[in-house]
Amino acid sequence: MTTFGNTFSGGPDCSICPSSRPAFFRLDPEKIRFPPGVVRRLDAVPEPGPDEVDEAKRSTLKLALIGGMLALGTAGVASFLRFAVPPPAGSATYPRVQLLYSDGTPVLASSYRYASTSTDLIVFNYPLDNEPNLLLNLPGPAPGGIGPTQSLVAFSAVCQHLGCIPPFISYYPPGACGTFNGGRAFIHCVCHGSTYNPAVSAPGGGAAIITGPTVSPLPQVILVWDQTTDQVFAAGEVGPAVKGHSSTLVGGNVVFNPVTAEAPQIPTQQCPV
Ligand code: FES
Repeated sequence: MTTFGNTFSGGPDCSICPSSRPAFFRLDPEKIRFPPGVVRRLDAVPEPGPDEVDEAKRSTLKLALIGGMLALGTAGVASFLRFAVPPPAGSATYPRVQLLYSDGTPVLASSYRYASTSTDLIVFNYPLDNEPNLLLNLPGPAPGGIGPTQSLVAFSAVCQHLGCIPPFISYYPPGACGTFNGGRAFIHCVCHGSTYNPAVSAPGGGAAIITGPTVSPLPQVILVWDQTTDQVFAAGEVGPAVKGHSSTLVGGNVVFNPVTAEAPQIPTQQCPV
Protein backbone atom coordinates (compact mmCIF):
# COMPACT_ATOMS: atom_id res chain seq x y z
CA MET A 1 0.00 0.00 0.00
CA THR A 2 1.41 3.39 -0.92
CA THR A 3 0.32 6.38 1.07
CA PHE A 4 1.75 9.86 0.58
CA GLY A 5 5.00 8.45 -0.73
CA ASN A 6 5.31 5.84 2.01
CA THR A 7 5.00 2.15 1.29
CA PHE A 8 3.37 -0.35 3.62
CA SER A 9 3.55 -4.06 3.22
CA GLY A 10 1.82 -5.36 6.32
CA GLY A 11 -0.95 -4.78 8.80
CA PRO A 12 -0.92 -2.48 11.79
CA ASP A 13 1.89 -4.02 13.78
CA CYS A 14 5.26 -2.67 14.81
CA SER A 15 6.92 -3.75 11.58
CA ILE A 16 5.22 -0.88 9.79
CA CYS A 17 6.06 1.67 12.45
CA PRO A 18 9.38 3.19 11.51
CA SER A 19 11.11 4.70 14.48
CA SER A 20 12.66 7.20 12.17
CA ARG A 21 11.95 8.46 8.71
CA PRO A 22 15.00 8.54 6.46
CA ALA A 23 16.00 11.79 4.88
CA PHE A 24 16.86 11.85 1.22
CA PHE A 25 20.39 12.82 0.41
CA ARG A 26 21.82 13.70 -2.92
CA LEU A 27 25.59 13.55 -3.39
CA ASP A 28 27.16 16.17 -5.57
CA PRO A 29 29.74 14.27 -7.67
CA GLU A 30 31.53 17.55 -8.33
CA LYS A 31 32.35 17.77 -4.64
CA ILE A 32 33.69 14.24 -4.29
CA ARG A 33 37.28 14.85 -5.26
CA PHE A 34 40.65 13.82 -4.03
CA PRO A 35 43.14 16.58 -3.28
CA PRO A 36 45.72 17.30 -5.93
CA GLY A 37 49.11 15.67 -5.62
CA VAL A 38 52.13 17.52 -4.25
CA VAL A 39 55.01 18.32 -6.59
CA ARG A 40 58.45 18.81 -5.08
CA ARG A 41 61.52 20.11 -6.84
CA LEU A 42 64.77 18.19 -6.28
CA ASP A 43 68.32 19.27 -6.92
CA ALA A 44 69.67 18.12 -10.21
CA VAL A 45 72.09 15.20 -9.97
CA PRO A 46 74.03 13.45 -12.68
CA GLU A 47 72.09 10.67 -14.30
CA PRO A 48 73.60 7.34 -13.33
CA GLY A 49 74.94 5.30 -16.11
CA PRO A 50 73.12 2.17 -17.11
CA ASP A 51 75.43 0.13 -14.92
CA GLU A 52 75.51 2.55 -11.97
CA VAL A 53 72.49 1.51 -10.01
CA ASP A 54 72.45 3.06 -6.54
CA GLU A 55 70.53 0.52 -4.45
CA ALA A 56 70.40 2.81 -1.42
CA LYS A 57 68.80 5.61 -3.45
CA ARG A 58 66.36 3.16 -5.02
CA SER A 59 65.23 1.99 -1.59
CA THR A 60 64.81 5.58 -0.41
CA LEU A 61 62.69 6.43 -3.42
CA LYS A 62 60.53 3.37 -2.88
CA LEU A 63 59.89 4.36 0.71
CA ALA A 64 59.10 7.93 -0.30
CA LEU A 65 56.68 6.69 -2.95
CA ILE A 66 54.86 4.40 -0.53
CA GLY A 67 54.69 7.16 2.08
CA GLY A 68 53.28 9.59 -0.43
CA MET A 69 50.64 7.13 -1.56
CA LEU A 70 49.58 6.48 2.03
CA ALA A 71 49.35 10.21 2.74
CA LEU A 72 47.30 10.81 -0.38
CA GLY A 73 45.06 7.87 0.43
CA THR A 74 44.40 9.09 3.97
CA ALA A 75 43.66 12.61 2.81
CA GLY A 76 41.44 11.27 0.04
CA VAL A 77 39.38 9.12 2.40
CA ALA A 78 38.96 12.03 4.81
CA SER A 79 37.89 14.29 1.98
CA PHE A 80 35.44 11.68 0.66
CA LEU A 81 33.86 11.16 4.08
CA ARG A 82 33.47 14.90 4.54
CA PHE A 83 31.37 15.17 1.40
CA ALA A 84 29.69 11.74 1.55
CA VAL A 85 27.98 12.61 4.84
CA PRO A 86 26.15 15.85 4.02
CA PRO A 87 24.66 18.08 6.69
CA PRO A 88 21.02 17.23 7.46
CA ALA A 89 18.49 18.82 5.14
CA GLY A 90 15.91 21.18 6.55
CA SER A 91 15.06 24.81 7.01
CA ALA A 92 16.08 27.61 9.37
CA THR A 93 12.55 29.00 9.63
CA TYR A 94 8.98 27.89 9.08
CA PRO A 95 7.70 28.72 5.61
CA ARG A 96 4.26 30.27 5.10
CA VAL A 97 2.40 28.19 2.54
CA GLN A 98 -1.17 28.25 1.27
CA LEU A 99 -3.23 25.05 1.49
CA LEU A 100 -4.95 23.74 -1.64
CA TYR A 101 -7.18 20.75 -2.27
CA SER A 102 -5.76 18.07 -4.53
CA ASP A 103 -7.66 19.55 -7.50
CA GLY A 104 -5.79 22.83 -7.05
CA THR A 105 -8.68 24.73 -5.48
CA PRO A 106 -7.73 26.84 -2.45
CA VAL A 107 -8.94 25.60 0.92
CA LEU A 108 -11.42 28.22 2.21
CA ALA A 109 -12.02 28.30 5.94
CA SER A 110 -15.69 29.26 5.81
CA SER A 111 -16.58 26.50 3.35
CA TYR A 112 -14.25 23.66 4.21
CA ARG A 113 -15.34 20.62 2.23
CA TYR A 114 -15.22 18.10 5.05
CA ALA A 115 -17.63 18.10 7.95
CA SER A 116 -16.62 17.36 11.52
CA THR A 117 -18.26 13.94 11.07
CA SER A 118 -16.03 12.97 8.14
CA THR A 119 -13.26 10.42 8.65
CA ASP A 120 -11.68 11.10 5.25
CA LEU A 121 -7.93 11.58 5.54
CA ILE A 122 -6.97 15.05 4.35
CA VAL A 123 -3.21 15.18 4.65
CA PHE A 124 -0.64 17.77 3.67
CA ASN A 125 3.12 17.82 4.16
CA TYR A 126 4.54 20.66 6.24
CA PRO A 127 7.05 22.15 6.96
CA LEU A 128 9.17 19.39 5.39
CA ASP A 129 8.14 17.11 2.58
CA ASN A 130 8.35 14.02 4.82
CA GLU A 131 6.20 15.44 7.63
CA PRO A 132 2.49 14.71 6.94
CA ASN A 133 -0.27 16.48 8.88
CA LEU A 134 -4.01 15.91 9.32
CA LEU A 135 -6.30 18.81 8.39
CA LEU A 136 -9.39 18.52 10.60
CA ASN A 137 -12.69 20.30 10.99
CA LEU A 138 -13.62 19.84 14.65
CA PRO A 139 -17.21 20.09 15.95
CA GLY A 140 -16.51 23.39 17.71
CA PRO A 141 -13.87 25.95 18.69
CA ALA A 142 -10.50 24.48 19.54
CA PRO A 143 -7.10 25.84 20.59
CA GLY A 144 -5.43 27.24 17.48
CA GLY A 145 -8.61 26.75 15.49
CA ILE A 146 -9.27 29.14 12.60
CA GLY A 147 -12.23 30.07 10.45
CA PRO A 148 -15.65 31.44 11.38
CA THR A 149 -16.12 28.77 14.05
CA GLN A 150 -12.45 28.47 15.03
CA SER A 151 -12.72 24.78 14.36
CA LEU A 152 -10.25 24.18 11.51
CA VAL A 153 -7.04 22.70 12.93
CA ALA A 154 -4.06 20.67 11.80
CA PHE A 155 -1.92 18.16 13.67
CA SER A 156 1.06 16.03 12.80
CA ALA A 157 0.04 12.74 11.21
CA VAL A 158 3.16 11.03 12.56
CA CYS A 159 2.32 9.23 15.80
CA GLN A 160 4.61 10.36 18.58
CA HIS A 161 4.96 6.81 19.90
CA LEU A 162 6.82 4.98 17.13
CA GLY A 163 5.97 7.03 14.08
CA CYS A 164 2.96 5.33 12.46
CA ILE A 165 1.36 7.50 9.79
CA PRO A 166 -1.99 7.47 7.91
CA PRO A 167 -4.00 5.40 7.35
CA PHE A 168 -3.11 3.97 10.79
CA ILE A 169 -3.39 7.28 12.64
CA SER A 170 -6.61 9.15 11.92
CA TYR A 171 -9.49 11.27 13.18
CA TYR A 172 -12.48 9.80 15.01
CA PRO A 173 -15.59 12.01 15.00
CA PRO A 174 -17.77 12.54 18.07
CA GLY A 175 -19.45 9.34 19.17
CA ALA A 176 -17.39 7.15 16.85
CA CYS A 177 -16.39 4.95 19.77
CA GLY A 178 -19.29 5.30 22.17
CA THR A 179 -18.35 7.18 25.30
CA PHE A 180 -14.58 7.06 24.78
CA ASN A 181 -13.21 10.56 25.48
CA GLY A 182 -16.65 11.47 26.74
CA GLY A 183 -18.10 10.90 23.29
CA ARG A 184 -15.99 13.74 21.90
CA ALA A 185 -13.72 13.63 18.83
CA PHE A 186 -10.18 12.28 19.14
CA ILE A 187 -7.17 11.16 17.13
CA HIS A 188 -6.20 7.49 17.42
CA CYS A 189 -3.26 5.42 16.24
CA VAL A 190 -4.21 1.77 15.79
CA CYS A 191 -0.57 0.61 15.76
CA HIS A 192 -0.38 0.44 19.56
CA GLY A 193 -3.39 2.41 20.75
CA SER A 194 -2.17 5.95 21.47
CA THR A 195 -4.96 8.52 21.50
CA TYR A 196 -4.78 12.32 21.40
CA ASN A 197 -7.31 15.06 22.12
CA PRO A 198 -7.34 17.71 19.35
CA ALA A 199 -9.56 19.99 21.45
CA VAL A 200 -7.13 20.23 24.37
CA SER A 201 -3.65 21.72 24.23
CA ALA A 202 -0.90 20.01 26.17
CA PRO A 203 1.54 22.15 28.18
CA GLY A 204 4.01 23.40 25.60
CA GLY A 205 1.56 22.86 22.76
CA GLY A 206 0.20 20.00 20.72
CA ALA A 207 -2.81 17.71 21.12
CA ALA A 208 -2.98 16.40 24.68
CA ILE A 209 -2.48 12.70 25.31
CA ILE A 210 -5.61 10.74 26.22
CA THR A 211 -4.00 7.29 26.36
CA GLY A 212 -0.48 5.93 25.80
CA PRO A 213 1.79 4.32 25.05
CA THR A 214 2.87 7.67 23.64
CA VAL A 215 4.39 9.99 26.20
CA SER A 216 4.52 12.95 23.84
CA PRO A 217 1.66 15.18 22.63
CA LEU A 218 0.91 15.43 18.94
CA PRO A 219 2.54 18.51 17.35
CA GLN A 220 0.10 21.12 16.05
CA VAL A 221 0.49 23.13 12.86
CA ILE A 222 -0.16 26.85 13.21
CA LEU A 223 -2.85 27.75 10.71
CA VAL A 224 -3.47 31.32 9.59
CA TRP A 225 -6.78 32.53 8.17
CA ASP A 226 -6.80 35.42 5.71
CA GLN A 227 -10.26 36.80 6.43
CA THR A 228 -10.19 38.95 3.30
CA THR A 229 -9.77 36.04 0.91
CA ASP A 230 -10.92 33.25 3.26
CA GLN A 231 -7.77 31.36 2.33
CA VAL A 232 -5.85 29.16 4.73
CA PHE A 233 -2.09 29.07 5.31
CA ALA A 234 0.30 26.99 7.38
CA ALA A 235 2.86 29.16 9.11
CA GLY A 236 4.51 27.23 11.92
CA GLU A 237 4.25 24.39 14.38
CA VAL A 238 4.02 24.07 18.16
CA GLY A 239 4.62 21.21 20.54
CA PRO A 240 7.39 18.63 20.47
CA ALA A 241 9.49 17.84 17.43
CA VAL A 242 7.82 15.55 14.92
CA LYS A 243 8.62 11.93 15.73
CA GLY A 244 11.79 10.78 14.00
CA HIS A 245 13.18 14.30 13.63
CA SER A 246 15.68 15.95 15.97
CA SER A 247 13.82 19.16 15.15
CA THR A 248 10.63 19.62 13.13
CA LEU A 249 12.71 21.77 10.78
CA VAL A 250 15.46 19.19 10.25
CA GLY A 251 15.51 15.91 8.34
CA GLY A 252 13.80 16.62 5.03
CA ASN A 253 13.29 19.13 2.27
CA VAL A 254 11.25 22.22 3.02
CA VAL A 255 7.94 22.37 1.12
CA PHE A 256 7.22 25.01 -1.47
CA ASN A 257 4.24 27.35 -1.55
CA PRO A 258 1.48 26.30 -2.04
CA VAL A 259 1.06 22.78 -0.65
CA THR A 260 -1.64 20.36 -1.70
CA ALA A 261 -3.82 18.34 0.65
CA GLU A 262 -3.86 14.77 -0.65
CA ALA A 263 -7.11 13.33 -1.98
CA PRO A 264 -9.33 11.80 0.70
CA GLN A 265 -8.46 8.28 1.73
CA ILE A 266 -10.20 5.81 3.98
CA PRO A 267 -8.41 5.40 7.30
CA THR A 268 -7.77 2.13 9.09
CA GLN A 269 -9.95 2.59 12.17
CA GLN A 270 -10.58 0.48 15.22
CA CYS A 271 -11.94 1.77 18.49
CA PRO A 272 -9.53 1.91 21.42
CA VAL A 273 -10.02 -0.81 24.01
S1 FES B 1 3.08 4.13 16.72
FE1 FES B 1 2.57 3.13 18.54
S2 FES B 1 0.68 3.99 19.08
FE2 FES B 1 1.20 4.99 17.26
